[in-house]
Amino acid sequence: MSAEFPVARPRRLRRTSALRRMVAGTRLHAADLILPMFVKEGIGEPHPVVSMPGVVQHTRDSLRKAAREAAEAGVGGVILFGIPAVKDARGSAADDPDGILQVALRDVRAEVGDAVVVMADTCLDEFTDHGHCGILTESGDVDNDLTLERYASIAVAQATAGSQMIAPSGMMDGQVGVIRAALDAAGFADLPILAYSAKYASAFYGPFRDAAECAPQFGDRSTHQQDPAGPLEEALREVRLDLAEGADAVMVKPALAYLDVIRRFRDEVDVPVAAYQVSGEYAMIEAAAANGWVDRDRMIMESLVSIKRAGADLILTYWATEVARRL
Ligand code: PBG
Repeated sequence: MSAEFPVARPRRLRRTSALRRMVAGTRLHAADLILPMFVKEGIGEPHPVVSMPGVVQHTRDSLRKAAREAAEAGVGGVILFGIPAVKDARGSAADDPDGILQVALRDVRAEVGDAVVVMADTCLDEFTDHGHCGILTESGDVDNDLTLERYASIAVAQATAGSQMIAPSGMMDGQVGVIRAALDAAGFADLPILAYSAKYASAFYGPFRDAAECAPQFGDRSTHQQDPAGPLEEALREVRLDLAEGADAVMVKPALAYLDVIRRFRDEVDVPVAAYQVSGEYAMIEAAAANGWVDRDRMIMESLVSIKRAGADLILTYWATEVARRL
């Protein structure tokens, strides 16, 4: 052993919190965070979502208040999910100008103006009585192309109501292209699309289906959402198709179990990459923390930093307002 051994001591830069802060390679900003929120038609009080402690189905009033709080905390955006009072097979409320999501978009835009990016999920599952993301064939499959017509109409309804970004999440083939064409034809050529490009058929969506009341009444979404065991190249194919169809930003969902996909997207594409820290990721940490098994606040920050380090520019998280305040 030489007298100088060891010359290299990586711990030198870890000695003080000031040093660690200065050399941190991964930084979260409030503006990177997007808050998903649920609004339910016709309720008088917010309804707690049991499987997501701290998350509620909002009334129109409580939604406005929560959006204002998010804006004041500096979050980058909010994304709204609507639960209509009446559902049917074609999800008629989804593109009704007076449907809950359109009403909520107008409410929130009136409340926060241009302070945050206001958007809505563009899908059908919250609006259909069968809980699937599209129009069903007689045999109960989701009809891709009939569903596209509905998505185009929903996107235009949301744009008309003031949505500042369209976020199609249904994983129908061709959805970005059809929505782009419909928006352009309706005078919304400048409205960006955030495409859920790699969306996996995931067990991590479990609590969301309580929150949005959209659990499929039969079957599942594995015929159109990606297989978790599918090749990484499949995700790349999806993202290339979405970009070719006109996507302005792309998303990976869920986040923590798919950090490799986030990294590949960040390396391969030249648009912002978003990652959705989904309901099951939220519920896991909240449930373990409620039992006193983990340090809740540190775990939240560590999970978000990991998603950022993997390459996400934007993160959708139910903790957005809380974390934005802490930053
Ligand atoms: C579909 C949609 C889902 C989520 C967001 N958009 C559910 C699904 O595909 O079944 C899940 C979000 C979450 O789990 O937090 N409209």
